[in-house]
Amino acid sequence: MWLRSLFCVAILLSSIVAQNYANDSAVKIFQQYIQINTTSGNDLTPAVNFWLKLATEQGLYTNVYWFTDGYPIVVIKWPGLNSTLGSIMLNSHMDVVPADENDGWTYPPFSGYLDNNSVIWGRGAQDMKSVTIQYYEALKRLKARNITLLRDVYMTLMPDEETGAENGMVPFVASEEFKALNVALELDEGTSYDLPVSPVFYQDKAVWQIRVDCHGVATHGSSFAVLNTTAIGKCSNVINTFLALRDQEYEKSLGADITNSGSYTSINLNKINGGTANNIVPQIISLVFDVRLATTVNETLFEAQLREWIRQAGDNITLTFLQKDSQSPATIVGAANPYWTAFSKAASTKGFIVLPTIPPGSTDARFMRSAGFPAFGFSPMPNTELLLHAVNERLSVKTFLAGIEVYEQIIYNLANLPGEETSVDPSVYLYYTSQ
Ligand SMILES: *[C@@H]1O[C@H](CO)[C@@H](O)[C@H](O)[C@H]1NC(C)=O
Ligand SMILES: *[C@@H]1O[C@H](CO)[C@@H](O)[C@H](O)[C@H]1NC(C)=O
Ligand SMILES: *[C@@H]1O[C@H](CO)[C@@H](O)[C@H](O)[C@H]1NC(C)=O
Ligand SMILES: *[C@@H]1O[C@H](CO)[C@@H](O)[C@H](O)[C@H]1NC(C)=O
Ligand SMILES: *[C@@H]1O[C@H](CO)[C@@H](O)[C@H](O)[C@H]1NC(C)=O
Ligand SMILES: *[C@@H]1O[C@H](CO)[C@@H](O)[C@H](O)[C@H]1NC(C)=O
Ligand SMILES: *[C@@H]1O[C@H](CO)[C@@H](O)[C@H](O)[C@H]1NC(C)=O
Ligand SMILES: *[C@@H]1O[C@H](CO)[C@@H](O)[C@H](O)[C@H]1NC(C)=O
Ligand SMILES: [Zn+2]
Repeated sequence: MWLRSLFCVAILLSSIVAQNYANDSAVKIFQQYIQINTTSGNDLTPAVNFWLKLATEQGLYTNVYWFTDGYPIVVIKWPGLNSTLGSIMLNSHMDVVPADENDGWTYPPFSGYLDNNSVIWGRGAQDMKSVTIQYYEALKRLKARNITLLRDVYMTLMPDEETGAENGMVPFVASEEFKALNVALELDEGTSYDLPVSPVFYQDKAVWQIRVDCHGVATHGSSFAVLNTTAIGKCSNVINTFLALRDQEYEKSLGADITNSGSYTSINLNKINGGTANNIVPQIISLVFDVRLATTVNETLFEAQLREWIRQAGDNITLTFLQKDSQSPATIVGAANPYWTAFSKAASTKGFIVLPTIPPGSTDARFMRSAGFPAFGFSPMPNTELLLHAVNERLSVKTFLAGIEVYEQIIYNLANLPGEETSVDPSVYLYYTSQ
């Protein structure tokens, strides 16, 4: 009998808890934000309006910039006491990768569904609508506590992180509008981790996307053209050398520390195009490779090596860079960087164990570092299955709310760093690793 009533109490309690979460204002706006379908390429006006409304509720100054039609960048200013001091830029992106309900989602990807276990479902739950709401809620709570920050804090919301940032972070960082923000430090996205730790990204690998076009003789499908004179023969030579590099680097990756994906170059052949008819030896074959350079790679020498391999693979083969990042510097994660000290102390105060990491993929933060600004990538999601870009992307409310608390402390520490403790030149907190 007592067991049964205990059970009833437990059910009652858990339903009360779920109810409370359903009425939590942070949870509500998180759900609403997920419900706005910001799949890459969609009209972002509803997301922009959503943020302008939230900013207006807090009496904040906002701006929307377009460097390309259809790609709005939202900037929300949370003013501090002294704008002469470098500001803290809290960056996130509005866009999400596609999600199709028919791919096996338990709850629809744009539902923001809160289930009975207090988990919020939907595309963007981890990447990275959660973080944008956490920035906002943390700042709102600091304001409600009447805590004044010394430095200005800006929330910046980008339109196209998932598709290369060509219309977002890239032109923004080069703009006068960005210069006017007087940024000292940027925070950007990190990742979830299925362990009780949170990675903090301090460097990103350079992304090279390379198209190789092999031109060869076109002839009858029944003939034996000398293989090395055909598009297929030439491209197969290219594939062999590039994938031999892949094998070598794969071996390196096996020995790599989990916190340092910068120690190897990844290379994958991700597209093959060509052919006109089933019975014609094709004139052109196109290959697209996705390469992420090890952080120590000398880009000049590496490009020369690729070109040499292509030269050896046969004549009339062209190489085109679809994307070619320069190596970007690393942010100092040690006592020499007061922003790191402030950040890591805030995290540990709130029980977060942070792990300086170079991720295998890359984020918008690399454009900031390349422009001379230190940046940390952090999404507070420890003990959370990695579901960025995955089916059934979701986040527990408990983790989401703990993330707001840690950002409150992080923003407090960073935005109150006295001017005497930091250099006026933010680039002193960066270092280059390519040789
Ligand atoms: C949550 O809000 C709904 C609708 O306003 C209300 O009916 C319900 O009592 C609230 N629940 C709690 C636990 O506050
Ligand atoms: C979300 O937007 C994408 C891209 O436009 C579209 O294909 C998809 O059907 C939309 N999903 C929903 C649920 O509206
Ligand atoms: C969640 O719990 C409520 C109340 O106990 C129940 O009515 C509902 O069916 C449950 N929903 C799911 C999806 O399990
Ligand atoms: C809020 O802070 C300001 C400046 O520090 C102070 O003048 C004011 O009295 C505070 N208001 C409340 C309600 O605490
Ligand atoms: C290379 O291939 C193109 C297209 O097949 C052809 O027009 C051109 O003459 C070729 N050039 C050389 C140097 O073979
Ligand atoms: C074809 O080209 C590859 C790469 O240049 C070379 O190793 C191979 O010997 C060539 N084969 C013939 C038959 O010429
Ligand atoms: C703002 O900070 C600058 C740089 O540290 C300092 O020179 C100035 O006195 C400060 N202004 C105020 C009003 O505190
Ligand atoms: C890369 O190598 C070239 C040629 O050896 C050299 O001139 C250049 O300084 C190197 N770059 C870096 C960043 O070390
Ligand atoms: Zn992201």
